[in-house]
Amino acid sequence: MLELQGVSFETEGDNGTEILNNIDLKLLDKKIYVITGPNGGGKSTLAKIVMGINNPTAGKILLNGQDITNCNITERARLGIGYAFQHPPRFKGLKVGELLRMSAANNPEKVNPYDLLHDVGLCAQDYINRDVDSGLSGGEMKRIEIATVLARNLQVAVFDEPEAGIDLWSFQKLAETFRNIHLKYETTIIIISHQERILELADEIILLVNGRISQKSEKEKILSLILQNNGCLCSTKCEKGVGQSAQFVG
Ligand SMILES: Nc1ncnc2c1ncn2[C@@H]1O[C@H](COP(=O)(O)OP(=O)(O)O)[C@@H](O)[C@H]1O
Ligand SMILES: [Mg+2]
Repeated sequence: MLELQGVSFETEGDNGTEILNNIDLKLLDKKIYVITGPNGGGKSTLAKIVMGINNPTAGKILLNGQDITNCNITERARLGIGYAFQHPPRFKGLKVGELLRMSAANNPEKVNPYDLLHDVGLCAQDYINRDVDSGLSGGEMKRIEIATVLARNLQVAVFDEPEAGIDLWSFQKLAETFRNIHLKYETTIIIISHQERILELADEIILLVNGRISQKSEKEKILSLILQNNGCLCSTKCEKGVGQSAQFVG
């Protein structure tokens, strides 16, 4: 279980701005949590706090009861917290199969690249010897990236807007991929997303507005709230945005 206790984050300097305010969260194993909310609400900052890229200015982070607040990004990676990059790197000359084995640095012999590719919806024979370079489409790259995250057999995996830069068809496949991996792996999955199809995958949805948790509950409740709000999830600037809705529900 990953636990955040009273986590706040302020930017450095005399005019430090508060980006996260007193976040309390308990995230259980084997559950999918989707964090959503208006742009600038602090979602990516929260992801970076979990990863150890940013350190909280107040509060604690616990992984299975162990205080990891002062652990850096490498130490957290060793403990099994992983982050999927919004734009994964591409390496000329490196094959997909090699990338997957490399990703499982701690247990390469346990990783079967064929199974991993299958789990993310790619035909292993077609992809295992492809170069990880610009020849792969955005959707293919995204799924290979998810496979690298799975190869690490993480306790907590964080995906920041996995839908970014992929077409609608690939996106639908991506949603299925998350559903499948959820059934097979023990990982706690945290996905930051605005997409209804991703929200529907959640065991719980967390609505983050102006650096505070405005709502955290089963997806049905928050989805109906968003529906009341004409399905709009764009930004606070929109009259019908979730920012207004969140204020409305308090
Ligand atoms: N290092 C930083 N210094 C100053 N402002 C920052 C920094 N990181 C994020 N912010 C600001 O904090 C707010 C939240 O950003 P972010 O977490 O990226 O939001 P989201 O991912 O929800 O769109 C934004 O207003 C952003 O400009
Ligand atoms: Mg963001």
